[in-house]
Amino acid sequence: MPEILNIKHLDAGYGRSQVLYNVNMAIPPRGGVAVLGRNGAGKSTLMKAIVGELPAWKGCLHFNGQDIDRRRTEVRVRAGIGYVPQEHSVFARLSVRDNLAVGSLLDPDGSAAERVMKMFPKLGQRLDQPAGTLSGGERKMLAIGRAILGNPKLLLLDEPTEGVWIGVIEEISERLVELAREIAIIIVEQHLDLAMRVAEQAYVLDRGRVALSGPSQQLRNDPRLLTYLAP
Ligand SMILES: Nc1ncnc2c1ncn2[C@@H]1O[C@H](COP(=O)(O)OP(=O)(O)O)[C@@H](O)[C@H]1O
Ligand SMILES: [Mg+2]
Repeated sequence: MPEILNIKHLDAGYGRSQVLYNVNMAIPPRGGVAVLGRNGAGKSTLMKAIVGELPAWKGCLHFNGQDIDRRRTEVRVRAGIGYVPQEHSVFARLSVRDNLAVGSLLDPDGSAAERVMKMFPKLGQRLDQPAGTLSGGERKMLAIGRAILGNPKLLLLDEPTEGVWIGVIEEISERLVELAREIAIIIVEQHLDLAMRVAEQAYVLDRGRVALSGPSQQLRNDPRLLTYLAP
């Protein structure tokens, strides 16, 4: 089964400060892959480099049969990469409905909006509310819903349960497990249990390098994991 995304020897950073060093990853076309690591390890930087918000300094990104590392973000999104950033993932002043309308520009027939409502029924009751007034969990649901509207083949989720009440985390994780049966998901997640439930494979970043990788269950039992996650 060919990978949907191959990352080879990726270096990236901000200005002159390098954050990622020689990152290699292979993402299968379906299922979840977790990216773990302590604060500042480079997880969000990796997501930005995949979607093109940050240029690759070196290395290559091969997505669905194309080299994308020189492509602009819009081109990567249109090629099938959905991205839910860690912060500012919704337009706070726009209503839920309008946030979804923005997301559905890539889905002109409009049927996908219904799919989002089916996925997260709570959003259906909030359609006319500004996204800024939603709870943390509802905001994440909206951000995930918007990303889904582009019919991505690969979805990047940067801490989809950060700031979400524990009771709602369960609902979000259920939906992600279902989604990972259809498409590829890369999930950055602090809740190890959730990450492992969504992802069969995991990569652990340590100071911008892949320190460990393998099947989630195996990593779970690896004593080195906790040292890489400890603050
Ligand atoms: N916009 C930025 N400009 C400069 N440095 C940044 C920026 N964003 C993150 N960094 C730095 O890059 C490193 C990795 O950050 P990040 O990828 O956000 O880590 P993580 O998501 O794993 O917590 C940190 O040292 C952080 O300070
Ligand atoms: Mg981060």
